[in-house]
Amino acid sequence: LPWLLLAAVCGYLLGAVPFGMVMARLFGLGDLRRIGSGNIGATNVLRTGNKPAAALTLILDAGKAAAAALIAGMLWGPDAAQLAGAAAFLGHCYPVYLGFRGGKGVATFLGTLLALAWPVGLAACATWLAVAAVLRISSLAALVAAALAAPWAWALGRPEMILLCLALALLVFLRHRENIARLIAGTEPRIGRK
Ligand code: G3P
Repeated sequence: LPWLLLAAVCGYLLGAVPFGMVMARLFGLGDLRRIGSGNIGATNVLRTGNKPAAALTLILDAGKAAAAALIAGMLWGPDAAQLAGAAAFLGHCYPVYLGFRGGKGVATFLGTLLALAWPVGLAACATWLAVAAVLRISSLAALVAAALAAPWAWALGRPEMILLCLALALLVFLRHRENIARLIAGTEPRIGRK
């Protein structure tokens, strides 16, 4: 049990590092919280027009969750891997460094899935890409990918991941409340536009 607690705490502290804010600062893009949706994720970094900064945000945010899950898995086994990935996701959404006002968890969700079972992660990424390619709305792609993660885990023979997928998907939906309201109102912006 103590190592599970350690996996959760380390995962949380790593996940709480807001790479979108870090990239915006490094690339001189200003305060992300005052741009576009005000979110700290890669989608909102892209609204500044800086594609490298957005790509780095996506890779680093997904990477921090994947790293947490992979390292915990190697040290303490599969349960610790799930716990550390979930903790990194929670750290991203509720970061201690930003007064607990964080992101929406899409990249950390995908990174966690990729680390726990890469076929499930790839299926979730492909789902996001397919929806985004057709409809050009990041939040909608995220909601569909989150909702389909548990079915993918089941279909790809990873039933032990279903509960985690459902729990994280629920939180992804909760974190997208404003996006869902805009989607219903028809005012959600398309990818890359300010
Ligand atoms: O990754 C978050 C995305 O689903 C929505 O971001 O900035 O459009 O609210 P944003």
